[in-house]
Amino acid sequence: MSRHLLVTGGAGFIGSNFVHHVVEHTDDTVTVLDKMTYAGNEASLAGLPEDRVKLVVGDIADAATVDPLVEQADAVVHYAAESHNDNSLEDPSPFLQTNLFGTFTLLEAVRKHGTRYHHISTDEVYGDLELDDPARFTEHTPYNPSSPYSSTKAGSDLLVRAWARSFGVQATISNCSNNYGPRQHVEKFIPRQITNLIDGVKPRLYGAGLNVRDWIHADDHSSAVLTILDSGRIGETYLIGADGEESNKDVVETILRLMGHDAGDYDHVNDRPGHDMRYAIDSTKLREELGWKPSFQDFEAGLAATIDWYRENEAWWRPQKAATEAKYAKVGQ
Ligand code: NAD
Ligand code: DAU
Repeated sequence: MSRHLLVTGGAGFIGSNFVHHVVEHTDDTVTVLDKMTYAGNEASLAGLPEDRVKLVVGDIADAATVDPLVEQADAVVHYAAESHNDNSLEDPSPFLQTNLFGTFTLLEAVRKHGTRYHHISTDEVYGDLELDDPARFTEHTPYNPSSPYSSTKAGSDLLVRAWARSFGVQATISNCSNNYGPRQHVEKFIPRQITNLIDGVKPRLYGAGLNVRDWIHADDHSSAVLTILDSGRIGETYLIGADGEESNKDVVETILRLMGHDAGDYDHVNDRPGHDMRYAIDSTKLREELGWKPSFQDFEAGLAATIDWYRENEAWWRPQKAATEAKYAKVGQ
């Protein structure tokens, strides 16, 4: 039976990939609620059927906007957030407003209407791991966030847990590792380096570049979220990851090679203050309990397809590029 989903932040990177995935793999209809901040892009929803996907421009922290949309939905999938660590170090304020107060506003609406709610979160709530630590994050790892961004995401997860326990909200939570793929803003690591190279500029590696991220294709994140929405146990948290640990240095060198450059042709720039060293996800619970597995097993092939997407969609990213680089230039990155 088809459902009507309210997808917050559906004009952003992962939210729009989820909307495309839903249209392709289900009969569900979708209302996207998105404030269209610098990170929202209507072009990310272009080509989707108008009878299946509707965009409402509005703020998740505005109860008068949120309430009627939640009332009409069978389920809410909450992606909207201020999502970039570097921005949160420059100005934490919108992170508190959207990630905490926005989540609170949605929780009050789903509580009122008894609506199923899935909360999208990040592995960054667990802090970081040492490079030589064999451990990976599990659902039992204590919260230990490092940045204003990750601390507001951690706070939003705790709000969800409290609303589930105290008010019986029908919630699930997922914490996913670093996503890559089409439609990611050029402020983020992989698209920044690809678009720099297209512009004849060298990639920029923070510090020594030894930091490790656990990469997953955005489409695999979407299939995992849909699996949890369909068959996850209410009140549970699921970690989403695809065993994709890579150092930043290795990623930059691979991008350079795939784009026909010398693998050593990049610059080291100022490190990020408080820079988390390593993230790594153990997704056994999601795989064994719900039978999910990722489709993109070959990171280099996924990266090559992502490079092709940015080469073929310059009109999508070009308007963001100059302002993004001007912001980085101010802090020597
Ligand atoms: P993004 O910055 O690309 O998109 C965020 C979207 O939210 C934008 O369209 C923006 O306009 C919208 N938005 C921001 N504030 C809003 C508000 N107050 N009301 C309504 N809409 C608002 O982010 P992303 O990378 O796609 O991340 C989406 C979600 O996934 C976030 O919750 C993030 O924490 C989580 N996440 C991201 C990653 C990753 O690798 N990018 C990994 C794990 C989890
Ligand atoms: O782990 C999940 C998180 O992944 C999400 O919760 C965040 O929303 C998402 O932005 C991402 O956070 P990161 O901080 O890991 O991603 P970012 O793309 O900003 O950086 C990835 C790594 O690359 C990080 O170690 C910093 C480094 N970096 C980043 C940029 C932009 C560089 O070395 N050079 C750069 O130019």
